[in-house]
Amino acid sequence: MSNIKVLTVFGTRPEGIKMAPIIKVMEKTEGIENIICITAQHREMLDQVLNIFDIEPDYDLNIFKPGQTLTEITTRALEGLERVIIETNPDVLLVQGDTTTVFSGALAAFYQKVKIGHVEAGLRSGNLYSPYPEEANRRLTGVLTDFHFAPTENNRQNLLREGYPDDRIFITGNTVIDALNYVVKEDYEFKDSKLNSIDYKNKRVILLTSHRRENIGKPMEDIFSAVRDIVNKYSDVELIFPIHLNPKVRDIAHRVFDNQERVHIIEPLDYEPFTNLMARSYLVVTDSGGLQEEAPSLGKPVLVIREETERPEGIEAGTAKLVGTQYDNVYRELDILLSNEEEYHKMANAVNPYGDGKASERIVDIISQNYKYSK
Ligand code: UD1
Ligand code: UDP
Repeated sequence: MSNIKVLTVFGTRPEGIKMAPIIKVMEKTEGIENIICITAQHREMLDQVLNIFDIEPDYDLNIFKPGQTLTEITTRALEGLERVIIETNPDVLLVQGDTTTVFSGALAAFYQKVKIGHVEAGLRSGNLYSPYPEEANRRLTGVLTDFHFAPTENNRQNLLREGYPDDRIFITGNTVIDALNYVVKEDYEFKDSKLNSIDYKNKRVILLTSHRRENIGKPMEDIFSAVRDIVNKYSDVELIFPIHLNPKVRDIAHRVFDNQERVHIIEPLDYEPFTNLMARSYLVVTDSGGLQEEAPSLGKPVLVIREETERPEGIEAGTAKLVGTQYDNVYRELDILLSNEEEYHKMANAVNPYGDGKASERIVDIISQNYKYSK
């Protein structure tokens, strides 16, 4: 029997992080040949991930352009991927998540009639414009997908409601937990002197990340202002904000946070220091998808600064709270968590609705089993 040829396609930081453990499993699985193609929709932020996980892509489409529009990402990825798919002729193309790279990857595979595996399938916010354009990317990818790798039962139910056949949906857990297990260590020491100099025992660190397109503008300005004012209120609080490379996010952050005491705006961190920083933080404020999954498993309360989330599991488990983007709400919820220990401890429980760290093995196994019988 010949090898199963898998073409793994990704383009941004979170896709890299969540694909990496699958790639590691495929590397040691007999009978699978894995070809890696990055679109490099992100450049520096993706290269950081490739370094940490020691991944060398076979193809690098290098599509990144500063200030890229959604159309530019889609067309550049689509054109590059067509060439790679024709050249490599894979049995299955694997994409992960909800970025524009994911949708372009699925569409390029569909045009060549290549089977598609969608990792992290079935998440739904119910609003096409929030997260934007991710909700649409995920749904459009679903339509073209042959193997839906759903992290949770709730994700499976979403897919069933949309009419996808049960035998094409596989509950696997989320590979983000597999990735986290690679990097979080109790005795971890930061290489960065600023991160090392913070007194994590006596100070309370708020970890902030923000990058969602639909928050850029007034919502982001309101969120940052509320966080700034809370930091001013509590003298034992330090804010660490590893800031996304998007210049629109940077402009707002500098306007709101410049010259504030106990506010540390730093460059995007490598995944290893970032997750170990989260493990030492008091609480997390974020509009990120991945952080909503990582923080519960590290027992960190998360305030989700979005109007909708496609990840209700953390909220149901009590570790995450959807606080919206208005100044008053963000300020009030932070104030509660910082002033009321009982409320804090109610949320600060390590729960793991997103899996047991074996999602990658399950995904690779399902691909192997399916192709064993179909070849
Ligand atoms: C993208 C994804 C989003 C995902 C996020 C993870 C889309 C439409 N959006 O959003 O789903 O949650 O990645 O971070 O697919 N930039 C750099 N260097 C980099 C990366 C970004 O300079 O390595 C800057 C550029 O100015 C770029 C801007 O950030 O134009 C936005 O990047 P882009 O990939 O278009 O969207 P994100 O907001 O990062
Ligand atoms: N992350 C990182 N360095 C940072 C900020 C985030 O490595 O400075 C990681 C984080 O642990 C998570 C992922 O990047 O796994 C989340 O990426 P992002 O928030 O950009 O995208 P999203 O998950 O919202 O799609």
